Amino acid sequence: MDKFVIRGGNPLLGTIRVSGAKNAALPAMAAALLTEEPVILENVPQVRDIETERKLLAAMGAEVELGFGRAQHRTTICCRKLAAPEASYELVKTMRASTLVLGPLVARCGTARVSLPGGCAIGARPIDLHIKGLERLGAKITQHHGYVEASANRLKGGEVVFDKITVTGTEDLLMAATLAEGETILQNCAREPEVADLADLLNKMGAQIEGAGTPTIRVEGVEKLHGAKHRVIPDRIEAATFLLAGALTGGDLNVSACDPSHLGALLQKLDEVGVKTAHTSESVRVMGDNPLRAADVITEEFPGFPTDMQAQYMALATQAEGTSIITENIFENRFMHALEMVRMGANIKIEGSRAIVRGKTPLSAAAVLASDLRASASLVLAALVAEGETIIDRVYHIDRGYEHIEEKLRGVGAQIRRIGEILPKKAVAPAMRGYSQST
Ligand code: EPZ
Repeated sequence: MDKFVIRGGNPLLGTIRVSGAKNAALPAMAAALLTEEPVILENVPQVRDIETERKLLAAMGAEVELGFGRAQHRTTICCRKLAAPEASYELVKTMRASTLVLGPLVARCGTARVSLPGGCAIGARPIDLHIKGLERLGAKITQHHGYVEASANRLKGGEVVFDKITVTGTEDLLMAATLAEGETILQNCAREPEVADLADLLNKMGAQIEGAGTPTIRVEGVEKLHGAKHRVIPDRIEAATFLLAGALTGGDLNVSACDPSHLGALLQKLDEVGVKTAHTSESVRVMGDNPLRAADVITEEFPGFPTDMQAQYMALATQAEGTSIITENIFENRFMHALEMVRMGANIKIEGSRAIVRGKTPLSAAAVLASDLRASASLVLAALVAEGETIIDRVYHIDRGYEHIEEKLRGVGAQIRRIGEILPKKAVAPAMRGYSQST
């Protein structure tokens, strides 16, 4: 298992480039299941979750080519023949987003068998709303031996009102509805940019979708979809992580290849805490030379403050003067990073869904443990301002969603290196054995 060794104290200076959004690339790859023709995706990040999705699609008989060299971030997926419309427990337990194949498979093949993901490090995260939605479109769904089995001759358009806003639930239903007979109206949808990006791709494939990015999406079902080429949107969470790192270290950092229109809640928060920013249409510069002021955060669905930025914001809050109250509204158990930050000297109290952060406290290096993707990123941020050498264990979490983060950070002045550790087989135990991780 690899670890990061980080020596804190350097302000981040220069330009850092954002990769394509993992959470947009994953549904886009699942969308390729809806057609026999090739789907070409550009700006696909080279992260572990993408490799997991490649395995998932390949296991069903899809041809998946991940580009190399100049075409490094291009993925071509061709699902001409699908041998087995199934997502096994082995893959779903390592990546929950695997359940995104449920809707496309039942829509294209009339049958799907997908493992239930089970518990997760950040919350219960059921997929009942995906199942209920597909039933509203006429799918017959049963559950046996930990698997969801869905079947339908052809899905029928209908109205689905999500009881709760769900990102991948909206995406799953959106994909299913493209091949359903007649009109589907999805209500109380997630408005995340990744949903709108998926709809863009589906429309390029011949779907008829209106309203993606708003709470109501209308889909007129078509008989068939065809191949398409699509560029995945920039990763707004990676961009936010770098902006917070620039602010926290008192640096002057230009975060390039991002979309500032996806970062509104964070940019407003940076303004509130006293950090200066300036942006063009595809970059944000953060100038962190002012003292930081405390500011509260409440996580919400887009366009509110994202839960996926909460942990990284907490690292910043430890360095702000005053008390910041961080309320996590989306997941029940997403404060694991707080306890690690406390070990580094932060003053954080957890009261139910609220974390009370009292700053500013000097942080000192410690050996810490990453528990999920964003928690790992927050520990990297904390380590960048800690005195001494922090060792972050289990960085495989970060490799799931951040492309070469240590190389990118080193390029702007961070002292960070990766060390590998070869352990005897018996000693290698994943952080949460039996739990699927985030995403
Ligand atoms: C997506 O997960 C993201 N993953 C997550 O990113 C992100 O944290 C989350 O949305 C919230 O923004 C991908 O896009 C691949 P939800 P998703 O369904 O879709 C409850 C990261 O670090 N719910 O919007 O699984 C659920 O328990 C990850 O990149 C149900 O009750 O999240 C949660 O409380 C982590 N029943 C809330 O809704 C359902 O059927 C929102 O979850 C579905 C969800």
